[in-house]
Amino acid sequence: MTYAALKNDRFLKALAREPVDRTPVWMMRQAGRYLPEYRATREKAGSFMDLCRNAELACEVTLQPLERYPLDAAILFSDILTIPDAMGLGLYFEPGEGPKFRKTVRTEQDIAALPVPDAERDLDYVMRAVSTIRRELNGRVPLIGFSGSPWTLATYMVEGGPSKDFRHLKGMVYGRPELAHALLDKLARSVTDYLNAQIRHGAQAVQIFDTWGGALSAEAYPEFSLGYMKRIVDGLIRDHEGRKVPVILFTKNGGLWLETMADSGCDALGLDWTINIGEARRRVGDRVALQGNLDPAVLYAPPAAIRAEVKRILDDFGDHPGHIFNLGHGITPQVDPEHARAFIEAVVELGSL
Ligand code: CP3
Repeated sequence: MTYAALKNDRFLKALAREPVDRTPVWMMRQAGRYLPEYRATREKAGSFMDLCRNAELACEVTLQPLERYPLDAAILFSDILTIPDAMGLGLYFEPGEGPKFRKTVRTEQDIAALPVPDAERDLDYVMRAVSTIRRELNGRVPLIGFSGSPWTLATYMVEGGPSKDFRHLKGMVYGRPELAHALLDKLARSVTDYLNAQIRHGAQAVQIFDTWGGALSAEAYPEFSLGYMKRIVDGLIRDHEGRKVPVILFTKNGGLWLETMADSGCDALGLDWTINIGEARRRVGDRVALQGNLDPAVLYAPPAAIRAEVKRILDDFGDHPGHIFNLGHGITPQVDPEHARAFIEAVVELGSL
């Protein structure tokens, strides 16, 4: 499949740490419930998973934030939990409680019985969404594909849903580490195949969301999370359609471990707001680009305060190539879309050379 030539390559250039005319910007969860047009499409689709499975509607919501704001990247509309769903765990969403699985994975038998999904066949709806979005973007901005990290996927699969203490999975890590490794190994193979399929269908960069990696100890993080992300990075298609396909690693609360993350072979690190971006840059040097890191809660404040925080982050990063502006985590449903606009417009204006 040949797609239209890319008209805005600011995001890909910044990921390659090449100079750009202004700092590129996108927002984690930019297609979501804070937008009334998202809520309308979601209503039309039915459940959240019905929306993910409908390529035309998934494409529609992916493009909605780009119609409103001058964003420099689009992100595939889907979810990280599509892989465990394709493994047969039965994903569903309980309003107000987040994602849940009908089956959990806790024993040696549970892990042995898990299939490694064939992404082209078992996650074909995601691949249809990727190709549809790429076609409809028509070269406007690059498309980001994504997956959860093995560790983060394992937390949902073993606990059966969101958790505060990861009791069952951490019990396994410390009590039966070989079981945790067997599960993470299957997930790493599944994620590699899934991201490569997204790249073949048109994703121009990929991000690995390690939302819960920061809950691990300093010793357990490299062994149970980063090591598996590294294996994925090693197995990814890194050149496609005559361009490099950059990989972004985002470990939430991973600020203490940036140096080892930067050595993983990835192109960029996503930062949450618990670290100063200037300090992060000094620590990783010019090994990787950095993406982040406005506290999403700043978007509850008036536009003048949002603008001041954007300026503070740009000043702290300093005059170097390799910054992609983003939130330190996803935008929340309660944010006023005009505050999201104030954020993006502040980056466009203050981030220009
Ligand atoms: O950025 C984007 O616009 C792309 C879409 C995207 C979604 N989920 C859509 C979504 C991405 C990149 C994700 C990733 C994701 N999903 C992560 C990693 C990033 C992070 O936020 O840490 C995680 C942990 C999940 C699991 C998940 N899916 C959660 C915790 C929830 C929220 C549940 C709730 O009720 O608040 C979801 C559902 C989800 N994924 C929504 C969206 C827009 C909301 C669902 C709805 O419309 O009802």
